Amino acid sequence: MPKEVWVLHGPNLGLLGRREPELYGRDALASIDKRLAELGQELGLNVTAFQTNHEGAMIDRLTIAMDEADGCLLNPAAFTHTSLALADTLRSVEIPVVEVHLTNLYARERDRQQSLTGSAVRGVIMGLGTMSYELGLRALYALLKSPSRKSTSHPASHKETRR
Ligand code: DQA
Repeated sequence: MPKEVWVLHGPNLGLLGRREPELYGRDALASIDKRLAELGQELGLNVTAFQTNHEGAMIDRLTIAMDEADGCLLNPAAFTHTSLALADTLRSVEIPVVEVHLTNLYARERDRQQSLTGSAVRGVIMGLGTMSYELGLRALYALLKSPSRKSTSHPASHKETRR
């Protein structure tokens, strides 16, 4: 049985291709999703993509993913910087979630350098344009293949980083 991977895209990512292309590139979301579906097929993953502009809808999707998916690739978009609620959900999700961003948040405006979600997911890949998504899917594949791969986000490391 192929593993189920859900790709969740946050607000305004439906505008990709037309939205600030100098930052986010010229690929439309549909072409990113098509590439991910193809890559998924090569890897033996069943990839299903969703985009929403609504925080609650994203939280609902993640909650359903807990029962219906084996892993998630998530670009929370601006919710990365604003949504404590989404971060709470991510901390409750038992399946691996890999967060991706097209742009390098560390190289963006100060508000975008803050992430509420980054510490609540298994790993983050950013700054590589659409390649961030592809690498994120490959990372999920590796995690699903050997779930025992060590996570570095254990409670002790949280304490260290919060000092
Ligand atoms: C983004 C970065 C966010 O700051 C922004 O709000 C987005 C896209 C990215 O993929 O680079 O919508 O998540």
